Amino acid sequence: MAASTSTAASSEAETGLTMVTRAALEADPHAVLARHREITPLIRVDDGVVMLLRARDVQALVTDPRLRQVETEFARLRGITAGPLFDFFQQTVLLSNGEVHRRRRTPIARTFAVQVVAALRPRIRALAEALVAEQVPRGRMNLLADYASPLPARAIGLILGLPERDVPDFTRWVYAMSRALTSTWQPSDLPEAEEAARRLTDYVDDLVKQRRRAPQDDLISAMVPLIEAGDPDEAAETRMQIVSLILAGSDTTRAALAIQTGLLLTHPAQWEAVCRDEALIPGAVAEALRFEPAVGSFPRFTLSAIALDGGVLPAGALVSFSTLSAMRDPALYVDPDVFDLRRSDHPRWHMVFGGGAHRCLGEALARIELEEGLRALTTRLPDLRLDAPLTVRGSAAIRRVDEVPVSWRAPGG
Ligand code: HEM
Repeated sequence: MAASTSTAASSEAETGLTMVTRAALEADPHAVLARHREITPLIRVDDGVVMLLRARDVQALVTDPRLRQVETEFARLRGITAGPLFDFFQQTVLLSNGEVHRRRRTPIARTFAVQVVAALRPRIRALAEALVAEQVPRGRMNLLADYASPLPARAIGLILGLPERDVPDFTRWVYAMSRALTSTWQPSDLPEAEEAARRLTDYVDDLVKQRRRAPQDDLISAMVPLIEAGDPDEAAETRMQIVSLILAGSDTTRAALAIQTGLLLTHPAQWEAVCRDEALIPGAVAEALRFEPAVGSFPRFTLSAIALDGGVLPAGALVSFSTLSAMRDPALYVDPDVFDLRRSDHPRWHMVFGGGAHRCLGEALARIELEEGLRALTTRLPDLRLDAPLTVRGSAAIRRVDEVPVSWRAPGG
């Protein structure tokens, strides 16, 4: 699937690592990962990535100084070497290291701190309730497009100061651009992803200009002085963190909200239990994020070889920390293939949000959106039904969920 497969992939004999094709992984990710996890801590995928499979290694190595973030290596592996999409890979907080990473993360970190975001809960609850209220009379919706997409987009819009009327445009660009962060990326996706990256970056530029003229009480206005203080390169870098927040804030949570609803409806007794007792909501959110995560891995690069129990992570490798695999590891979870919202063996740091210096900045916000998104549905639409099986695609990185058609008895229907 990646552009440079022939150069990146090495044979099993050369590397000593079990080789797996991306196609096999995509076809049945949980089964393939489980089969390998039992016998080896790591596999090499034919697109050049080494996958780390076991919970213990994922948890231990996420803060290990022998690994760093991937910077632009991942983009280059995919044949992305210049242009607006490459600029994103080069300038985003997500893929940077050391002092550069601190410089990019610090100005946005406070806004997403747990206590700051907690104060937004009532407004996010109101957003979720308003979205459900709009749908109630219709008796059916496509949960992904009609509910799971607008809720996180409006929430990140609230924080950054993005007008609600822009949601359809910026979400369209985000979804096209974030294809570059999925495991199903094809080189043919490049033109659309590039165009989307250009449009989203221009959109943010325009917003920054507007806020410079007329500041408001939002994060973009707060970042204007920082953008103005730097030279053009520094200003572009700061603006790219706003692009990063729009992307991270609207895509992953969309999938997670659709998946958690689909999973609960696939387990009707658990759906009914949440409808009866809202104290079960945080557990349902945590379990859905474990069982079928919206993000299936996060990347790192090895600075030196690292010995594991049963294998060696080679130096200079692009490593995919497979949370998709680690969160089904029976060494950490009892009956990992059972969806159980009352599970009590979640680790304190949920693996789906990564770890160390790069741990997801939006974790608190995402949890509130997922909790309030679920609460509004269980309160207003307890008779919600799933009208097609839930299908989640992708063996790594940002995953994709198919349309989720649902229906209910509309008032008077
Ligand atoms: C269910 C929803 C979400 C999931 C599963 C998720 C997952 C992740 C993961 C795995 C990482 C990489 C961590 C690492 O490399 O160690 C990450 C980073 C990040 N996430 Fe999220 N995320 C979600 C929602 C959000 C939201 C709503 C925001 C909005 C603010 C956000 C903003 C970020 C940012 C800015 C980073 C980069 C942090 C850094 O590198 O310092 N995420 N997220």
